[in-house]
Amino acid sequence: MSPERVVEFICGSRGEAIRAPSSAELPAGAPRSMVIEPKFVGARALIERCVVTLAGERGLLLVGQPGTAKSMLGEVLAAAISGSSALTIQGTAGASEDHLRYGWNYAMLLDRGPRPEALVPSSVLTAMKTGKLVRIEEITRCLPEVQDALISVLSERRMMIPELEGPDGSVFAAPGFNLIATANLRDRGVSEMSSALKRRLNFETVPPIADARQEIELVRSRAQAVLRESGTETEVDASVLDILVTTFRDLREGRTGEGWNVERPAAVMSTAEAVTVAAAITRQGSFFATRKDPVSLLPGYLLGVVLKDNQEDRDRLLAYWDGPIRRRGENDALWKRMYALREVVEELGRE
Ligand SMILES: Nc1ncnc2c1ncn2[C@@H]1O[C@H](COP(=O)(O)OP(=O)(O)O)[C@@H](O)[C@H]1O
Ligand SMILES: [Mg+2]
Repeated sequence: MSPERVVEFICGSRGEAIRAPSSAELPAGAPRSMVIEPKFVGARALIERCVVTLAGERGLLLVGQPGTAKSMLGEVLAAAISGSSALTIQGTAGASEDHLRYGWNYAMLLDRGPRPEALVPSSVLTAMKTGKLVRIEEITRCLPEVQDALISVLSERRMMIPELEGPDGSVFAAPGFNLIATANLRDRGVSEMSSALKRRLNFETVPPIADARQEIELVRSRAQAVLRESGTETEVDASVLDILVTTFRDLREGRTGEGWNVERPAAVMSTAEAVTVAAAITRQGSFFATRKDPVSLLPGYLLGVVLKDNQEDRDRLLAYWDGPIRRRGENDALWKRMYALREVVEELGRE
């Protein structure tokens, strides 16, 4: 795909129908032209910069809060640019340098000595050989020494395999090779990453969705897709969506649309989490016929998100009830109903 097509694949074609080139061989029955729906909601310029970075000699590091679609972006970028997003490494505290370089088939190694057939390549090495993009998820969970195995890969575009002699002893990256890493700001973070590695990566921050209407629409369509996949055809309730996404945004930002200050809980109030809650409430309504009022289920699920490891977060949620929810309830029936559910939070959240 051309760079422009990659951006369209990710951000959508703005309602325009895109025609496949006349030379392209399409599977039988596939349409020659179609409108591309956006997969990522956010600034097109961000995606353009990602594409530009990946065409250059630096790697791309997507940083941001959990649940802002960093992993999803890495996947669609890899799929659009190299035709597959399968070359992936999950960063963990237990990862060793071998995870980023290569290992050995020990039976063969002992039997016949070091030879190319006994080498077990990592996804990084495979991507170098085949000229594809490799994704490293949550790179900052790996120890900084382990992360540093990537420095020579990015600067020299080469991986040394000292055990193998001759031309097999060093692998050069084929054109097209590059790296997409993600890092959550809530984890150990990029502060411990070596400056040598930082210099070989372009940082792009992926922000939460800025526009409330867009976030509501995304949560609706993603939750609906999740439900359909599991065989539930019930529609996600519009009132639930409205209150849910508004509450998430207020608690995430520490400030409401009206400009009232809100105490932020320690828990992550991500779009991804809102999708999960919207789907769960709808599913509960479809499983249990007595649950005719989906709004009444909101407090229980909100507590489930907010109350992870910090009891003070319950008080913050109650303060949100006594502030914005109460005030909105003074002239809005829906928020008034929500305010009436305050005791649920009080009851459920008790230790
Ligand atoms: N800006 C966004 N555009 C599209 N989907 C989003 C966006 N933000 C969150 N999502 C939803 O959240 C889900 C989880 O995101 P994920 O990629 O796992 O986040 P991260 O890796 O940042 O923690 C995505 O699959 C998508 O459904
Ligand atoms: Mg992720």
